[in-house]
Amino acid sequence: MTPKTVFITGASSGIGRALAIEYARKGVRVAIVARRKKELDEVASTVGAKGGVAVPIVADVADAASVESALAEANDALGGLDMVIANAGAGCTTHATKLTVADVLRVVDVNVRGAFVTLVAALPYLLDRKRGHLVGVSSLAGRRGLPHAGPYSASKAALSTFLETLRLDLAGTGVRVTDVQPGFVDTDMSRATPTRPFLWTAEKAAKEIVSELRHAPAVYAFPLPLSAVVSASRLLPDGVVSYVAGRGLARK
Ligand SMILES: NC(=O)c1ccc[n+]([C@@H]2O[C@H](COP(=O)([O-])OP(=O)(O)OC[C@H]3O[C@@H](n4cnc5c(N)ncnc54)[C@H](OP(=O)(O)O)[C@@H]3O)[C@@H](O)[C@H]2O)c1
Repeated sequence: MTPKTVFITGASSGIGRALAIEYARKGVRVAIVARRKKELDEVASTVGAKGGVAVPIVADVADAASVESALAEANDALGGLDMVIANAGAGCTTHATKLTVADVLRVVDVNVRGAFVTLVAALPYLLDRKRGHLVGVSSLAGRRGLPHAGPYSASKAALSTFLETLRLDLAGTGVRVTDVQPGFVDTDMSRATPTRPFLWTAEKAAKEIVSELRHAPAVYAFPLPLSAVVSASRLLPDGVVSYVAGRGLARK
């Protein structure tokens, strides 16, 4: 089913922005959340120019009070929340020898703390109505510890595991849970990665995500070829993975 209202974090750019525009194109009213007001206002005007409704809300997902207040504001403005998408994310493409404590905290604060807080703080709004859809935008990178991506891969593994438990615990409540695991999507975040096989545009990713979410799958991973390669790589012995990474998949 297509929701009537959607709350999207990280909607000032990339996948979140494209999701907001795609949902609005379908007549869905959206609350768009991020830290950069100017970019959010641009998304809201783009949506408005096409006859849609987007409520911009400035919030920092690393700050729990800010997330709670954004959810309350969106719930009031939209008259209820049908779907909440924890999409805000921070990237990190740093070799382990060059990682700083600040890198680790930045990624964990947004991808783990921010996503968990968004999903948990949203839940009462959905449980009250005995329906709704919680969505987390994780990553194929969460399926393995990728080179130069320690905090990022680990943060997405944590998010996917959290979503799996939410799905089990919420069975029978009317609230559905989906873990979206993108491969490479052309956004500000992924431009820091030198090789991006099977790259999708943000618009294509948003179209496919919106279409898949109608069926509320447990996991939606894309694109299929990359998802299959990552799944198959889990079956390889660690020595083979280290060899391949050392031969050039990893930068020094
Ligand atoms: N692009 C890819 O290849 C790819 C692949 C797999 C998964 N993903 C995931 O997709 C999601 C969207 O990323 P993207 O690729 O679209 O990157 P992006 O264009 O850099 O967008 C990231 C979004 O997150 C928001 N954000 C970051 N920190 C925030 C904070 N503390 N509070 C609120 N919002 C915050 C940013 O807005 P502000 O800066 O305005 O706050 C921005 O809107 C992320 O979870 C990412 O991990 C992306």
